[in-house]
Amino acid sequence: MEIKITTLSENTANHGFLGEWGLSMLVEADGKKILVDTGMGTSATHNADILGIDLAEIDCIVLSHGHIDHTGGLGHVLKRRKETEIIGHPDIWISRYARRSPANVQFIGMPFTQEELEASGARFKFSREPVAITNHIITSGEIEMLTDYETIDDNLLIKESGTFQPDRLADDLSLIINAEYGLVVILGCGHRGLVNTIGQAQKLTGNKRVYAVIGGAHLKYASEERIEKTIADLKKIGVHKLGASHCTGFAASARLAQEFPESFFLNNAGTRLTLPES
Ligand SMILES: [Fe+2]
Ligand SMILES: [Fe+2]
Repeated sequence: MEIKITTLSENTANHGFLGEWGLSMLVEADGKKILVDTGMGTSATHNADILGIDLAEIDCIVLSHGHIDHTGGLGHVLKRRKETEIIGHPDIWISRYARRSPANVQFIGMPFTQEELEASGARFKFSREPVAITNHIITSGEIEMLTDYETIDDNLLIKESGTFQPDRLADDLSLIINAEYGLVVILGCGHRGLVNTIGQAQKLTGNKRVYAVIGGAHLKYASEERIEKTIADLKKIGVHKLGASHCTGFAASARLAQEFPESFFLNNAGTRLTLPES
């Protein structure tokens, strides 16, 4: 199976493209065009225009979670379309915050109401379980947290009855493609853990072979110990291509580049991949 992955929005950009904090990737595989996330603002639509990609042609949108840097571009994307199926977890609507410092807590949740998006053509399909898009492409559903070192960033919060509480990020999901040459796992922020997410993909498909993992791994604020344990587990799993984006962070990306020189690459706005590589 040929898989094309085009990164439309990312924190940093290749020459000529617009960089913006967030993530959006177009995945073309098994006869479908699937937009995973929409970035935070105008970068996904802007960069799609530069690449000559017509967003009116996509089959569905998958939202990896409700954070604004993955959902904020929805308004711009929906303007290019009539009706759009959007697959996500029901918790994408939870009111979300990030603690930037003890005195600075910032809203980072979905910036639209469901009604606003539905008026613009969104047709939501909510599920806590995996959703099959084709026989070979599924969403992860809620990701089981099985490793003992992958925890959710404790500066990510929800507001409940006026008080801030830790965010479980139950809506964090990934897109999994089960190709004959191995799994291709597309991450949003990987809030529930990079290794946990790969484990979920292996469990759901029964396929242990991992060809590519691409996207945000939320290691930007991770301890050195967590980064080293992640590297050790990735070596056991064996990943042919490892594309770091967005919240993976510089220190973790540098360590991954050092440990996986053959497979590592920075996946930025404007990056176009065709898998498997020849
Ligand atoms: Fe993010
Ligand atoms: Fe996030």
